[in-house]
Amino acid sequence: MIITGKYPNLRMRRARMHDWSRDLCQETHLLVSDLILPLFLIEEDESKEYISSMPGVKRHTIESACSYAQQAQALGIKVIALFPVTPNALKTQDGQEAINPDNLICRAIKAIKAHAPNIGIMTDVALDPYTSHGHDGLLINNEIDNDQTIALLAKQALVQAQAGADIIAPSDMQDGRIAKVRQILEDNALPNTLIMSYAAKYASALYGPFRDAVGSSSAFGKKDKKSYQQNPANHDEALCEVALDLQEGADMVMIKPALSYLDVIYHIKQHFKRPTFAYQVSGEYSMVKAAAANGWLDERAVVLETLLAFRRAGADLVITYHALDAARWLAEG
Ligand code: PBG
Repeated sequence: MIITGKYPNLRMRRARMHDWSRDLCQETHLLVSDLILPLFLIEEDESKEYISSMPGVKRHTIESACSYAQQAQALGIKVIALFPVTPNALKTQDGQEAINPDNLICRAIKAIKAHAPNIGIMTDVALDPYTSHGHDGLLINNEIDNDQTIALLAKQALVQAQAGADIIAPSDMQDGRIAKVRQILEDNALPNTLIMSYAAKYASALYGPFRDAVGSSSAFGKKDKKSYQQNPANHDEALCEVALDLQEGADMVMIKPALSYLDVIYHIKQHFKRPTFAYQVSGEYSMVKAAAANGWLDERAVVLETLLAFRRAGADLVITYHALDAARWLAEG
């Protein structure tokens, strides 16, 4: 950077004196179209609407999801991300419900497409909502079997894409899954389905409330996902994950969680210059909600500051449970 003067000729505070001059010099902006709204789905007869560890977030029946998607669309949100809660009776060791073309998420995609046709639908590809053990892959001899898992994930992606999903989002962190998904889409005449890879997904302690929401935590017990999700200590490994996923056919990549991984977001955007998503995960959401409920933080100010920080770091898009609130706040100006 070239410093063009010194005090008193150069006073950094001059441009900070007025609202208009602060606006004029603002480097990064947050738009409602940068936000993606996650949405949890439940079956009609499951009365598990509220998620205690995520105040303000509900599980939606298909009918309620349709009107929620319409609300999001009306506020200018471009994409929603669907996460199903599978009834316990349908969870199995091998997660076969994931490839049922009439499962909850596939029925929801079709219904939402009919009610809110102008909103993009992103769907999660991983087995954790469907397995009795809560892992993202197939548990064979007490280990997640990479190659058998990705064969199943490709079929899961196919049923979702055939139901009308616009963006397939593998969140499982197995090796080689993007290539398998891309191949099955090509083989089935779906060349225009986008793939957004959860490329750098860390084995984070911040996913707890999400696991409550989809009901994968109790089954999951004390086991962790460290044999497939990334070590939070590593940065270079994330660049390698992204490079591989782009080579295999991903259109977009994600870093997750967001706030504690801004360095990773920054370098991935700088290096690859591809559409880059940040996921402000459930634990990040719940921390802000809890502090705000205690009167310790100003929710609106903190949320908008964190979302802007993701954009400044290089994220093009942010998946956030605050999306609807943030959309309203942005509209108010
Ligand atoms: C699972 C999945 C997880 C999240 C999104 N997809 C949880 C996990 O890996 O255990 C977490 C999202 C959040 O915490 O908001 N495939």
